[in-house]
Amino acid sequence: MTDDVLAVHGGTPLHGQIRVRGAKNLVSKAMVAALLGESPSRLFDVPRIRDVEVVRGLLGLHGVKVTDGADDGELVMDPTNVESASSDEINVHAGSSRIPILFCGPLLHRLGHAFIPDLGGCHIGPRPIDFHIQALRQFGAVVDKTPEGMHLTAPHGLHGTKLELPYPSVGATEQVLLTAVRAEGVTELRNAAIEPEIMDLICVLQKMGAIITVHTDRVIEILGVPRLHGYNHKPIPDRIEAASWAAAALATRGEIEVLGAQQADMMTFLNVFRSIGGEFEITDARVGRTGVTGVEGGIRFWHPGGELNAVALETDVHPGFMTDWQQPLVVALTQARGLSIMHETVYEQRLGYTEALNTMGATIQVYRDCLGGTPCRFGRRNFKHSAVIAGPSKLHAADLVIPDLRAGFSHLIAALAAEGTSRVYGVDLINRGYEDFEGKLAALGALVERI
Ligand code: EPU
Repeated sequence: MTDDVLAVHGGTPLHGQIRVRGAKNLVSKAMVAALLGESPSRLFDVPRIRDVEVVRGLLGLHGVKVTDGADDGELVMDPTNVESASSDEINVHAGSSRIPILFCGPLLHRLGHAFIPDLGGCHIGPRPIDFHIQALRQFGAVVDKTPEGMHLTAPHGLHGTKLELPYPSVGATEQVLLTAVRAEGVTELRNAAIEPEIMDLICVLQKMGAIITVHTDRVIEILGVPRLHGYNHKPIPDRIEAASWAAAALATRGEIEVLGAQQADMMTFLNVFRSIGGEFEITDARVGRTGVTGVEGGIRFWHPGGELNAVALETDVHPGFMTDWQQPLVVALTQARGLSIMHETVYEQRLGYTEALNTMGATIQVYRDCLGGTPCRFGRRNFKHSAVIAGPSKLHAADLVIPDLRAGFSHLIAALAAEGTSRVYGVDLINRGYEDFEGKLAALGALVERI
């Protein structure tokens, strides 16, 4: 008997309504930003997920008082008394998330030194931090890597600099933003990431008093200011979670309305969803005879019946098709007629989960070549990063072990779409990024139980 296993009785279409809250990949960064202010910040609509707990723990260790606000999902962070934490205390969080690396700049500004534990996050390739370290050094930080973690100091303070990222990394762009806002002088960042979560982080920082200009062509300019204050912010909704449920509706031939989902940040996904044969309706402006009803809207996704179409896709940085949308959607593509292609260009090893789908009856082959699109960074480096999915395949139940967050959700969808009862091991990993996924599954009529 273990608590971490779910029996999934598949074959039932999911039907109903669920709600997504603030985006995991913004909320956690906005929490780190609170450390930069000299007065309390309030973040609303914060999901109850493990990544939030990790950041909350790290903030607490550094003297930030984090409390639940009056509203459900409201977090109040008071950074008035920031203090040092011991490396032993910090190391309790080693391996649990990628977020700790973003504490570098804020801690250097507040304390003059920082200790960062070994990072965690999903096992989807080597996930280096060289861009982060290079940027921090350019700001004037001294970075000392030891077996227990990374020690940083800034003996001469942090100064604005000119930087160009080799690739528009989300994390490295956030690192630069969180460091440059209080560094002395101007920072110019070229080849920056421009994901909606980055733009929302810039909104948070601007509310705090930062001066940030987003130019065309991935150039961001930051004029450092000596101090920042707290913010009040409602984050953008989680577009990865919304797309995951959309894929679940398609794979199980069901219908799911995702309240809170926002069309603007999901346009690329919606185009693909429609090309495959899925249907959706934007319900954010429900107009009744007397005007907008005031009911919270979102996006309703459904399988219209009949066959789905195969597509050729590649993942990319924004505004491309997100790498985190890929895994759930591939499960739906196992049900499309013909050959679909998924070329993963953001992470070199993010297709390993397809093996489990094959044990369930899918026909997916992975290749080292860049298939179906433009050649990417991984084509000449021997990584199996293109998948060909032949469908439609009848999926049957299997025992599955969850390898990482997004692949984990795709395993769950596959089990829900399959005939028979699957056992899914390691489901707690899904709590890292999907709030109350079991409650939502129940609301959608899924037949699942802990065993
Ligand atoms: N990269 C480097 N060196 C670096 C940093 C990145 O080579 O110093 C490479 C990575 O190896 C990767 C590429 O750059 O090949 C892109 O990585 P990026 O830095 O953009 O990713 P990240 O910031 O670590 C965030 C999300 C991921 C999401 C990616 C891409 C968070 C906490 N994580 O990761 O989300 O896939 O951006 O959009 O925001 C998830 O939510 O499950 C997840 C993995």
